[in-house]
Amino acid sequence: MRRSPRAIGSLLCMLALAACTAEAPRAGDPARGRLVAQEWCAGCHDISIAPVREPARPAPAFLDLSRRARPDFSDVRRFMEELHPPMPTFRLWPEEKENVLAYLHFLRHARAAEARGDGVGVR
Ligand code: HEC
Repeated sequence: MRRSPRAIGSLLCMLALAACTAEAPRAGDPARGRLVAQEWCAGCHDISIAPVREPARPAPAFLDLSRRARPDFSDVRRFMEELHPPMPTFRLWPEEKENVLAYLHFLRHARAAEARGDGVGVR
């Protein structure tokens, strides 16, 4: 089967787009990270700033997770790079993962942030 020049053109476009995404800045956005977590993680993890203890969810609350993770979140980062069925982490773009990490970073310092009134988790 021969591909039409048009199909090849759109393939090149997609490759260019992928290259741009790979070079996107690494600093994540916690507010976007919360939206990503809401969509992909909240089914199993309590992702809120004030997790409900009962009834327990099958997965650790993001607040607890954020506080026992390594200071640089390298363990969580590695976890998200691996396959952990049924977790959908593999569905996230690199930029979305950075945003989720930024949201975890926010949660770790949530109390201080709340006190300053710049809570990103409560919009
Ligand atoms: C289908 C249910 C499910 C979904 C959806 C899910 N998780 Fe999980 N996750 C779990 C369970 C269960 C565990 C605990 C068992 C384990 O460590 O494998 C876990 C553990 C984790 C851990 C390790 C926590 C630790 O103890 O160190 C991380 C990090 C994590 N999840 C991140 C995510 C992220 C990010 C998302 C959204 C993209 C997500 N999970 C979505 C079920 C889920």
